Amino acid sequence: MHSDLKKILISQKDIEEKCKELGNIISLDYKDKNLVVIGLLKGCVPFISDLVKHISIPLRMDYMSVSSYHGGTASTGHVRVNKDLDSSVNGCDVLIAEDIVDTGKTLKKVIEMLSVKGAKSIKVVTLLDKPEGRVVELVPDYVGFEIPKEFVVGYGLDYNEYYRNIPYIGVLKEEVYTK
Ligand code: PRP
Repeated sequence: MHSDLKKILISQKDIEEKCKELGNIISLDYKDKNLVVIGLLKGCVPFISDLVKHISIPLRMDYMSVSSYHGGTASTGHVRVNKDLDSSVNGCDVLIAEDIVDTGKTLKKVIEMLSVKGAKSIKVVTLLDKPEGRVVELVPDYVGFEIPKEFVVGYGLDYNEYYRNIPYIGVLKEEVYTK
């Protein structure tokens, strides 16, 4: 285990199995639909990459970059759009792929933006859901794991941009982010 972590919350093996399970369900649910999987950079990268390998129907992928934490451990509530989509989602069945839903503010804003762009349907798949953190009403359609209110890193999730490359989800030691 990485020395800055106090424990592993979700193992690499459990993540791999969950991606397969979610991919299979999504393949059935989106059969005959015009699926576009939209990843929210940068945290989504390991998850979207593993997830789409298990989706067996035709799909397109696009990315947006929005930030809400700006390197800290708590949401500022301000959602900044750094990069918009490259392609049109007008009339498409959009599935937003996230690493984590916490306050829900990021997704609420992104969903609003995608509806304005004319998406036919908008759903959310998230690897992690932290329901205790929610401050706006937002229920993800597909959830990998519900987690408690702890500061987690790894598998795309960062603290000050580090730890995204850890292949599992772990809880950061308090002394790492309080020093
Ligand atoms: C994180 C995460 C989600 C968002 C969730 O992104 O990837 O997009 O925060 O928080 P919320 O539900 O409280 O809005 P972040 O802004 O840290 O950017 P990153 O993906 O580049 O790490």
